Amino acid sequence: MSRILVTGSAGFIGFHVARALLAEGHQVIGLDSHNDYYDPRLKADREAILLAMPGYEAVRGKVEEPGLLHGVFERHRPEGVVHLAAQAGVRHSIKNPRAYVEANLLGGFELLEAARAFPPRHLMMASTSSVYGANTKMPYAETDKTEAPLSFYAATKKSNEVMAHSYAHLFDLPITMFRFFTVFGPWGRPDMAPHLFTDAILNDRPIKVFNHGDMRRDFTYIDDLVAGILALLPHPPSVALPEGDSLSPVAPWRSINIGNGEPVKLMDFIAALETAIGSDARKQMMPMQPGDVSATWADDTLITRLTGGVPKTPLPDAVQAYVTWFRGYFECALSPAESPAAGE
Ligand SMILES: NC(=O)c1ccc[n+]([C@@H]2O[C@H](COP(=O)([O-])OP(=O)(O)OC[C@H]3O[C@@H](n4cnc5c(N)ncnc54)[C@H](O)[C@@H]3O)[C@@H](O)[C@H]2O)c1
Repeated sequence: MSRILVTGSAGFIGFHVARALLAEGHQVIGLDSHNDYYDPRLKADREAILLAMPGYEAVRGKVEEPGLLHGVFERHRPEGVVHLAAQAGVRHSIKNPRAYVEANLLGGFELLEAARAFPPRHLMMASTSSVYGANTKMPYAETDKTEAPLSFYAATKKSNEVMAHSYAHLFDLPITMFRFFTVFGPWGRPDMAPHLFTDAILNDRPIKVFNHGDMRRDFTYIDDLVAGILALLPHPPSVALPEGDSLSPVAPWRSINIGNGEPVKLMDFIAALETAIGSDARKQMMPMQPGDVSATWADDTLITRLTGGVPKTPLPDAVQAYVTWFRGYFECALSPAESPAAGE
C-alpha cells in the first residue's frame, strides 16, 4: 500500500483512477477545483463515491495556485502522483486559450516544482494523442514527430511534456507522460462526442457528424485505460535502461501511448451507439472542425512491452456499458446539459 496523489480526481479519468487505487488498498489524496467547464454536479457525484471509500482524502483547489501543491506534497509526501487536472478540450482551447495557460502550463509548473521539493518515486502526467498534430504516419509511435500541434490545447500538453523532460533531467525525477486516445465510458465527459451523441439520440435530436463522417478514432474504454495506468505505476523510467526502453537518453522520462490500438470509423461508433440505444441517429453532416485531426491510432508496442499487455474491451461491450450507465445516471440524477464544446 502506498500514498498516491491524484489531481483531477473529480474528473472523468481521475475519478476512475482514484477509485481503482482505493480498491487496491492504496491511500489516495484527490485534488480538484471542481470548475464549471462542464456541470459540476457530475464532479460532486463522482467525488461522493470516492469519499465513501476508506483511504480517500479530498483537497479542493486550483493546481496553479502558488504553494497549493507544494503544501499538499509537504503534508502527504506522495510516493506516486497521477496528474490529470487540466483544462481539456480541443475546441474550447480556440475560444478560451487563457484557461489552458493557467491550468496546464502554470499548473504543470507548480506540480513539477512541488515534485522537485518532495520527489515521488514516480510522477505520471497526462498528455494527449493530440500532440501528434499534423503527423500523418499511422499508427502514432512515441518516437514520431510532435512538433506541429494543431490546437492550443495540444500545444500546452506538448509544453508539459518538454517542461517535464527538463525537470526529469535536472532533478532526476522519474516522469511518465501519458498520451491518451479518446477515452469514453461510464461517468464520461459531457463535452465529448460519446456523450453528445448518446444524449441527442435518446432525445431524438440531430447529432453533428464532423468531416462528413470521414473520421477514425482510437476509442479507448475507461477500464482499459485505468488498467494501463495502474500497470505502469510500478515502472518509473530510468535513464538509459539496459533494455533501452527509455525514450530519453538523458533523463528518467518517457512518453507512452495508452490507446486501444485499433482505430474505429466514426460511423461505426455511431452504429454501435444506435444498436445499444435501440434507435437511429439523425445525422447532420458537418465540415471538419478547426484544430481537429481526421484520424488517430495508437501504436501500443511500448505499453505492451512494459506491462505485458493491457485489456481491450470489445467496442460493442464498451458502448453497451456506457449507454447503460448513461441511462441510469441521467434518468435518476440529472438531465444532461447542452454543451457547446467537444474534443479531447
Ligand atoms: N478524456 C480523454 O479522452 C482525454 C484524452 C487525452 C488526454 N486527456 C487528459 O486526461 C486528463 C483528464 O481528462 P478527463 O477527460 O478526465 O477530463 P475532466 O475535465 O473530466 O477532468 C479534469 C479534472 O480536472 C479539474 N481541473 C481542471 N482545471 C483544474 C485546475 N486548474 N486545478 C485543479 N483541478 C482542475 C476539473 O475540475 C476536472 O474535474 C486531462 O489532463 C486531459 O487533458 C483526456
